[in-house]
Amino acid sequence: MTPLVTFRDVAKTYPNGVVALRGVSFAIAEGTCHAICGENGAGKSTLMKCLFGLEAPSGGSIEIAGHPIGADHSPRAADAAGIGMVHQHFSLLPSLTVAENLVLGREPTKGPLIDRAAAAAEVRRLAQRFRLAVEPDVRVGRLSVAAQQKVEILKALARDVRLLILDEPTAVLTPQETEELFERLRHLRAEGLTIVFISHKLREVRQLAEHVTVLRDGRVTGDAPITDLDDATIARLVMGRDVRAVHRERRPATGPEVLRVAGLTRGASDAADRLSDITFTLHAGEVLGLAGVEGSGQRGLVGVLTGLLRPERGVAEFLGRDMARMDTAALRALGLGHLPADRYAQGGARTLSLADNAIGDAYRSGALGRWPLLSRKAADRRAAELIRAYDVRATGPRQALGALSGGNAQKLIAAREFAAHPKLLIADQPTRGIDIQAAAFIRARLIELAEQGSAVLLISADLDELLSLSDRVAVMFAGRIAARLENGPDLTPEALGPYMLGLQAAA
Ligand SMILES: Nc1ncnc2c1ncn2[C@@H]1O[C@H](COP(=O)(O)OP(=O)(O)OP(=O)(O)O)[C@@H](O)[C@H]1O
Ligand SMILES: [Mg+2]
Repeated sequence: MTPLVTFRDVAKTYPNGVVALRGVSFAIAEGTCHAICGENGAGKSTLMKCLFGLEAPSGGSIEIAGHPIGADHSPRAADAAGIGMVHQHFSLLPSLTVAENLVLGREPTKGPLIDRAAAAAEVRRLAQRFRLAVEPDVRVGRLSVAAQQKVEILKALARDVRLLILDEPTAVLTPQETEELFERLRHLRAEGLTIVFISHKLREVRQLAEHVTVLRDGRVTGDAPITDLDDATIARLVMGRDVRAVHRERRPATGPEVLRVAGLTRGASDAADRLSDITFTLHAGEVLGLAGVEGSGQRGLVGVLTGLLRPERGVAEFLGRDMARMDTAALRALGLGHLPADRYAQGGARTLSLADNAIGDAYRSGALGRWPLLSRKAADRRAAELIRAYDVRATGPRQALGALSGGNAQKLIAAREFAAHPKLLIADQPTRGIDIQAAAFIRARLIELAEQGSAVLLISADLDELLSLSDRVAVMFAGRIAARLENGPDLTPEALGPYMLGLQAAA
């Protein structure tokens, strides 16, 4: 049988001299789910961009169903060949509605106007067909990341694709949402769809894929049926060596109180921002893990704690000072660190250099406006230090953040926030999209910060991570704290499930 896609000696050197692919050869069989694994910067996204026509290979060839792609390959040609791609970073327009995003570029019209009813009907039809529930008329910017992910996938599926490329689709999903998505994907595969699945999570790769290709530093280090390789072997092929898991020794909180939240309440049209009587304290040196299905109020809580949202009732005190009276800049000056879940929208500026991202208060504006006199040299030096300390794969401080691989961009933002030694660190999905080794590194730094006296509020959809790092765990459901639990060997991801789903409460 002819494979659906064949890569032959594909090479890619970016214009800035970075060699991303050094002769990649393997094939993707039709009707299978084919996983691609590899550490941050290994070349996974680059290879898929070549297949999708977003980047031109510098050498080698790619065949789709036996036909070599031409020099004029483009996303339009990929589309015509039946290839859909869900990108690692969202490409939706936040100010448009779900329906507008989905039909963008091929809008149904009624006279000179877009036929909104027809667009909404098409979205409903798609949502039904692929069983990915989305609301057509909501603006995308108001959706949780999980909901945005669904819209991205629907958008790719909307054009009758035969090959669907998913570049880390589950990085932003909860275990339940991931399971649902996998259910849909298995179904689509049974109907003949071929799926390329890029993920750092071996457990998921095993659940979905029958074949795996491992890339390291732009080369294929493994290519085999998934059942031929055990986890340790895949990890070694990914990394070139073994990794060890990080675990925190739990100690009772004895440090002074850093954060006190009492009765925080606010209404909001979006459930993700709604809070109902949230009460907890956080001490220096303590890690409080916040579990919960995404959209259960975490975003509202983080918004209040970072000065972006105001509560209607209740108080939040940071080192004894009322947070409602301070804006983000004042909070940061007092020692607040924030690693946002949406690193690109909130954490960094893609078009700016690593140096600008590493120093500036890029937290909101991403601009250097507040530091007009800052010396370039000092900025470059600072960036170079962070790049070295966090093993960010980059050509240097002047490279644009957007030219880094997804995981490496995140490492840089984490480095900036951690290096400031915040008194309170809000770490929202700190290892999302980061490879196994870098994730272990970030977790070790988080533990180190806590040991040096930072109070850490850890929000993570990765429950294994949450339980391995936290002293205490609070579970959010529907804007409330549904449970407050001491962490210990008896606390498992399964035990958190009923609280996360609102079936049980212990607050
Ligand atoms: N637009 C670009 N310009 C220059 N270099 C780039 C560009 N995009 C990616 N690179 C570089 O190419 C290499 C491979 O990046 P790629 O995004 O393919 O990695 P990846 O395997 O997808 O990693 P991740 O798991 O972090 O997403 C990296 O060294 C990266 O810095
Ligand atoms: Mg990538």
